[in-house]
Amino acid sequence: MRRSSAAERLSEPELIPVDVERAHEEYERCAETPESVYENLDHGHALYETISESRQTLLEKREAEGDEFARERRQVYSHLEQGKLVHTRAKLENEGRGVTRPAIVDHDGSQILAFHKPFTGSLELFLGSDDVVYRVVSSLDARGQLTRKLAPIENLRDVGIDSVDQIKENIQAAEGQREHYSQIYGIDAHRLTHRANPFRLRDIDSHAESRAAVSASILSELLKNKERIVPVTVARNDEHGPGTLQQGVEGEIFGIEQVKRIYQSGDPDQYAYPILDLACGQFLNYETDGTAYNVVGGKLIDNGYSFVLSMQDPNAEESLHHAERHYPAGPLNGIALDILHDFPHWELDEDERQPYLDLVRDVNTYRSILQKKLTLREQRALPDSVREGDAARLVNNVFRYIFERVDENGEVIPETRTVAFHEARNFIARAHYIGMNGRPPRFELPKRRMRNFRERFEKKRSTS
Ligand SMILES: Nc1ncnc2c1ncn2[C@@H]1O[C@H](COP(=O)(O)OP(=O)(O)O)[C@@H](O)[C@H]1O
Ligand SMILES: [Mg+2]
Repeated sequence: MRRSSAAERLSEPELIPVDVERAHEEYERCAETPESVYENLDHGHALYETISESRQTLLEKREAEGDEFARERRQVYSHLEQGKLVHTRAKLENEGRGVTRPAIVDHDGSQILAFHKPFTGSLELFLGSDDVVYRVVSSLDARGQLTRKLAPIENLRDVGIDSVDQIKENIQAAEGQREHYSQIYGIDAHRLTHRANPFRLRDIDSHAESRAAVSASILSELLKNKERIVPVTVARNDEHGPGTLQQGVEGEIFGIEQVKRIYQSGDPDQYAYPILDLACGQFLNYETDGTAYNVVGGKLIDNGYSFVLSMQDPNAEESLHHAERHYPAGPLNGIALDILHDFPHWELDEDERQPYLDLVRDVNTYRSILQKKLTLREQRALPDSVREGDAARLVNNVFRYIFERVDENGEVIPETRTVAFHEARNFIARAHYIGMNGRPPRFELPKRRMRNFRERFEKKRSTS
């Protein structure tokens, strides 16, 4: 089928020979605190203020219309933003990066449970020139001081890697992607900081993961009845250092038990709903870390690795929907997306598609106003929030927050603003796709992951 051949071509960037020496040099260069770190912290902070304000206005307007949920959500935001954070001694069962900590947030005498996620990246791996693989723990303190610790990994299996060759393959793929981006955005590969370097190391200078996590939470509010998919998440930079604080969610991790329930129930269709909602969220956010551990109580709780760049392949067939043509650069990884793959007939019903279509319509209407395509009379007939472009401006600013970077003089690197603009449009294209089709496109899954997923399930089935 023509469709999947385009998708395959896009998902597998050209492999270029891996040069371990060069990778090492690259690492050394990335390991220095970049000169632009303070400027990017300031710039990110300014953008954060802007989107926080818009988000607040949006929720206030909804509250005024009697939306109880908007009121609650706004309260949680101020609680998390202003409250005093007290870490608990509770230890998490599954540690992930091992930095997330449950905390009590105290505000005006009331307490809520939250999860504090400091800005670090301990799951980064680094291949030394001696073929030794290191785990890299990076952190940035409140003053912008970067520290990195390298620990050699003795057993690669512990970090889910089969072999050094597999790492080399990953590096090759990342290099291929970087070349690709560099061409499509016309940007010097070394200025292209976001998600496009073999080790993701340079993201550290700009809190990229915190920015993505906060953005997922804010964007989820734009889809009225989908706002519950991502818990309230705010950026914090206090005595505990920079990071995010997220409202605690109750409920179980989306584990193998839930998967079993679906596949073995004899009537999987009864589970279509939570899965569809989650899968749409994972697609909308271009989630690359949507593993079972990151879906708790029917919510997406770990969104630091979402909003990867799209591959803007100019050669992809015109017949493909915009959302498919601009395939995500990294393979999407989402447990709900994987399950949905097995149930091609599951689709959101009409009511559930409406919020997606409403968002797309509001954004497009505002664009028409800017392009002077609407008469004053037509404009007057619109609700205030649409005429003033609340959603459209918020989407644009959120994507600036995710992608826009400044140089060491504090000047916006123009290409990064272009990237932000493209990605905001792609986001709307994805919402449109879901609104029209009732589900995400059926992406070809990376073969290895699918095999593991099926094998694991098959094994469980045969033993239970
Ligand atoms: N908002 C939340 N509500 C409930 N549990 C959470 C929440 N955030 C994190 N957790 C728990 O903490 C674990 C680690 O947090 P996570 O955000 O996934 O960080 P990482 O995977 O980077 O370590 C999760 O798998 C989950 O069990
Ligand atoms: Mg996690």
